[in-house]
Amino acid sequence: MTENMYLALDFPTWDEAKHFIDENNFHGIPVKVGMELFYREGPDLIERLKQDNHNIFLDLKLHDIPATVGKAMKNLAKLGVDIVNVHALGGSEMIIQAKEGLLSGNVSGHETKLIAVTVLTSMDDEMMNNELMIQGKVQDNVLHFADFAKKNGADGVVCSVHEAMRIKDVCGPQFLTITPGIRLQESDNNDQKRVATPSFARENKADILVLGRTITNAQDPKAAYKKVLEEWGNGNKS
Ligand code: C5P
Repeated sequence: MTENMYLALDFPTWDEAKHFIDENNFHGIPVKVGMELFYREGPDLIERLKQDNHNIFLDLKLHDIPATVGKAMKNLAKLGVDIVNVHALGGSEMIIQAKEGLLSGNVSGHETKLIAVTVLTSMDDEMMNNELMIQGKVQDNVLHFADFAKKNGADGVVCSVHEAMRIKDVCGPQFLTITPGIRLQESDNNDQKRVATPSFARENKADILVLGRTITNAQDPKAAYKKVLEEWGNGNKS
């Protein structure tokens, strides 16, 4: 079941993303579009992907004053993607207005889930404490962000696999845990600090995997994708 695995299209242009999709026969699989590709190609890209039957996670990680984020979400809602996100660090009022914007801008009746990014998986305790001056352990802060994101209308969070289980305990089974930082045993961690394998993600109740460089940098991306799929199965839905 590939429906809970979003491939990060972290490419500079649509031509390169399309080439990668074609070359590996990744047609119609769920994809994540981030800032790099969206800022280059704009909303037309989303239409193209929808025409090719991809489910889409639009990963723009909005973080601004509540009114601005609310109005931006109203516009993004019109794209009819499956998932959009904000940084939980923007605070409760920003999350509330993001959700309101999303609901008011929905023209198709297609539900777009609002997800809050907790603490980036590229961050560890030391960076969080010493650079950002946010005290405590990453895991405890993630849990706090997840709890208040849920209370203010988010449908789930982006977190590392290491926090997914505790989030489910606190926020309940319906609250989505989307987990980047996924690595096959043999892959490079790159800039990610809190990584995990697909099977560890399944055991720890992650709902959705985000797959980036473990696939896009693999010598054989198709084989790597298949391996993740075998390890992940249908995730914690099985
Ligand atoms: O290549 P890698 O597997 O590290 O890619 C992770 C992808 O997930 C990137 O597109 C990155 O922007 C995204 N992401 C993340 N951490 C978050 C949210 C999104 O790594 N907290």
